[in-house]
Amino acid sequence: MNKLKQGIELIETKDFEELSRISAEVMVECLRKKPDSLFCLATGSSPARAYEIFVKIVNEEQIDVSKLRILKLDEWWGINENDPSTCEYFIQTRIIKPLNIPTQNYIGFNSDALDANVECNRIAQIVQQQGAIDLCILGIGKNGHLGLNEPGVCLIPFPHVVELSERTKTHDMLTRTDVTVNYGMTLGMANIIASKKVLFLAAGDEKKASFEVFLEGQVRSDLPASILWLHPNAICVFESKLI
Ligand code: GLP
Repeated sequence: MNKLKQGIELIETKDFEELSRISAEVMVECLRKKPDSLFCLATGSSPARAYEIFVKIVNEEQIDVSKLRILKLDEWWGINENDPSTCEYFIQTRIIKPLNIPTQNYIGFNSDALDANVECNRIAQIVQQQGAIDLCILGIGKNGHLGLNEPGVCLIPFPHVVELSERTKTHDMLTRTDVTVNYGMTLGMANIIASKKVLFLAAGDEKKASFEVFLEGQVRSDLPASILWLHPNAICVFESKLI
């Protein structure tokens, strides 16, 4: 079932595999149209399979990725970047290494930066220099977060440091480490909204409650993902079991 609801294209899929295939196709289409695309990538379970399919298609069809630019959406702070629970490890092992993305085409928060605020300012400057994100891939968090923009009284426009909510501290990625992570760094809402296209994924039983609120179509700071209702070119791909 495909239907257009006030600007966001909602695509209901029968399962995670279909969601991932459609997502990978959106990535391939964007890359074919613009070989030097800037992709902003979320990590975590929602896009994991889509990235796998994307890499497979790129390799099988020998699509040129030498100009593709990758920007990591967010990162935990205060943890070694080689730790398997980092977003860095996720992106390196699933995208950067398999596709041989040149170092100069990859931008990401450093998880073990000495000063997280300085690190966010560094990323803010680079993001500004790179120009608009062509495709921003996002997954809804269990608590409705977007990147690491956590629910709260306000939302922050630009790259910033975040104190993680208790719920986010239980994120599956963090179960792979003994290090206690209390802070994160993330692109802000203006960075996300300025993307030319957004691909928003909702997958997994634990997303049901937050996704239901998202579908109400109100923009609210206690559900950061709902900001996407303001985006003029967003696709939301979701598993049918969530509705
Ligand atoms: C974390 C990640 C985000 C991800 C979100 C949802 O905050 N750093 O990039 O979008 O969680 O993750 P998941 O898809 O695993 O639920």
